[in-house]
Amino acid sequence: MPAPAAPNSASTLPAGHSAPPAATSPLGRHVREGLSRPFKTLSSMYFYDDEGSRLFQQIMALPEYYPTRTEFGLLSRHQEAIGQALRPSSPDEPFFLLELGAGDGLKTKILLRHLLATGARFTYVPVDISSAALEGLAASLRTELPTLRVEPVVADYAEALRLMASRPGRKAVLFLGSNIGNFLPDDRHRFLQSLARPLTPDDRLLVGFDLQKDPRLIRAAYDDSQGVTARFNLNLLHRLNQELGADFDLGQWQHYTDYDPLSGAVRSFLVSSQAQTVHFTALDWQAEFAAWEMIHTENSYKFTRPGISAAAQASGLAVEEFFTDEQDYFADVILRPAR
Ligand code: AVI
Repeated sequence: MPAPAAPNSASTLPAGHSAPPAATSPLGRHVREGLSRPFKTLSSMYFYDDEGSRLFQQIMALPEYYPTRTEFGLLSRHQEAIGQALRPSSPDEPFFLLELGAGDGLKTKILLRHLLATGARFTYVPVDISSAALEGLAASLRTELPTLRVEPVVADYAEALRLMASRPGRKAVLFLGSNIGNFLPDDRHRFLQSLARPLTPDDRLLVGFDLQKDPRLIRAAYDDSQGVTARFNLNLLHRLNQELGADFDLGQWQHYTDYDPLSGAVRSFLVSSQAQTVHFTALDWQAEFAAWEMIHTENSYKFTRPGISAAAQASGLAVEEFFTDEQDYFADVILRPAR
C-alpha cells in the first residue's frame, strides 16, 4: 500500500462564518471527524444513498460477486432444515420472523414460501431504515405471497430489537447477506451482544457469514472487471459533493482494495492520485490530501468456522447449526442464546 507522501492534514476555513446546519448533521460531523484522522476514514454506512443502493443491486448480480447468489443457492438447498430450525417445534405456536436490513427480500422469499407451504403461523417483520425499500418489499409480497402476514418496521436495528423485545411471543431473527462482515471486530461483538440480549432461550438467530476461501476470488469480488464496485466506492465522494457542497473531482480518485488473509479483512479505499485540497462549502471547512493518500471506506470480513463459533460464544450465543453451500463459500448459521 503506498504511504502518504506528506503528513495528512485538515484545516478550518477563516473564522467569521457561522457553521451551516449540515455541519451538525450526522454526515457532516462524521466527515469532518473521519477526514481529520491521521489515516482518513469514512464509514461504508454512507454508501447507500439512492445511487449507492442502485449500484449495490448491480454488484449483487456481478459474476465476480459470489456472496449473493451463493447464499441464494444455500437457502434454496437447505430451506427445509433452516425452516425447521427457525420455527417453534409445536406447529401451532405463532412466531415473529424479524429480518434486519430486509432490502428487496429476494433471498428471504425462499424461506417465507417454504414456511407458508408448511403451514407455519408467523408474522414477517422486515426492518429497514429505508421506508422506500420496505414499501417496495411489502408491495411485492402482497402480490407474490398474498396470505403472508407482514408488519414492516422503519427503524434502525437497535430500535427494532427493543420494539420486538417488548412484544410477547417466539422470535426468529434473520441477518442475511454478509452484512455482519462490515463491522470491525469490536463493533461486531457489541452488535451480536445486542442481538443476543433480548432473546429468550427458545428464540433463534440466522446470520450470514462469508467464509474464507481462495484469496484471489475474494479480492476479485471487490474489484470487478466492469468497474461497478469502483463506481460504488467513488459514489461516496459524489454524495459528499451533493450533500455537503464538497468539490471532489472524481477523476482524481481511484478505487483500491486489498484482502488480508491473516485478519480475514477485505479493505476498500479511495486513493487521491495527486495532492489536493477539497472544500466543503456546507461545513465551512476543507481537507488536504497528499498524493496517494487514502480514505479507508469499508471492511468486509471473511470468517472461518472456529472464528464464527468464538465470536458467537464471546457474545453470549451458541452455534446450533451450520449451513453451507456445496463449495463452502458461505455459511448461514443458526444461533441461540448460550445461557
Ligand atoms: C453490504 N455488504 C455485505 C457488501 C460486502 O460484501 O461487504 C457491500 C459491498 N461492498 C463492496 N461490494 C459489496
